[in-house]
Amino acid sequence: MACLKASRAFTGRSKIAKVEGAYHGIYDYAEISQTAKPENWGDAEQPSSVPVSRGTPPATLDDVVVIPYNDTERAIAILDRHVDQLACVLVDLMAHRIGLIKASDEYVNALRKWTQDNDVLLVCDEVITLRATYGGAQTKYPINPDLTAMGKMIGGGFPVGAIAGRADIMEVMNPLTDPVLFPHSGTFSANPVSMTAGLTAMRLYDQSAVNRLNRLTKMARHRITEAIAIAGFPACVTGGGSMFRLHMKPEPPNDYRDTFASADEARKLKVLLDHAFDNGIMLIGTGSGALSTAMTETEIDVLAQVMLDGFRKIKQG
Ligand SMILES: Cc1ncc(COP(=O)(O)O)c(C=O)c1O
Repeated sequence: MACLKASRAFTGRSKIAKVEGAYHGIYDYAEISQTAKPENWGDAEQPSSVPVSRGTPPATLDDVVVIPYNDTERAIAILDRHVDQLACVLVDLMAHRIGLIKASDEYVNALRKWTQDNDVLLVCDEVITLRATYGGAQTKYPINPDLTAMGKMIGGGFPVGAIAGRADIMEVMNPLTDPVLFPHSGTFSANPVSMTAGLTAMRLYDQSAVNRLNRLTKMARHRITEAIAIAGFPACVTGGGSMFRLHMKPEPPNDYRDTFASADEARKLKVLLDHAFDNGIMLIGTGSGALSTAMTETEIDVLAQVMLDGFRKIKQG
């Protein structure tokens, strides 16, 4: 929310562009199209702005431009149609709800070039992906976003959010200016417990901790893929860094529409998640999991075995 508002305050424009299916929190504008379905998501050339919450003001839909993930040509064509009204393009470089698949280099480079050429800001949501690479997912691309949203792990287990970016853009929140273009404050702001826990966690989660955890998660993805093969089950695993996501489809999806689970896939996933939960493993409802630094190969052995049993269970009906 703060990144979008800062972008508007800096550019003086109201529209934002976001990727279909991506989750960026529950701010009206940020959540649009996060739960789009085949019956309302519209043409792939021009995805519809679909509200999530009941009672969303219709004007919100007009101010959110929805672009497809990893489809550079279509995304740029859509952006071109709104070029004079856009404050920012918001993107998560490995969006969990889209399938936990990486944004392609071509796509990210094209968004960066288009935003730079048109004085529109590029905002990276690293609320989840900051953990994926030391320095965040953006360090894997030859780009610098104008603003970055962070959260989750930077609080060391306590609730927190942060935004960072170009100094001239951040200036819109400077309380010492008059007028402040985007006054930013809140009950949860500058909470000393979150700050202390977060600082400690960030110090501990150094380059070698990230490398170790990522190696462990790579092993986890590999072991689950083996379990899928042994069970002869049509599923696959995506992910990166210290995260993985299970899909009840034989091939990894490429975007939100590909990732969208059919009724049968959703039913199978629920059986798998319930089985995992009954055996001590809690996955996100989308079939995603995140490893923690406390884990070792012992937990991966358990995960692989539980998954194998789960796939066999679904196969047996
Ligand atoms: C990728 C991503 N962006 C943004 C958010 C929203 O963060 P907050 O709940 O702090 O607004 C979340 C929360 O889960 C998230 O996963």
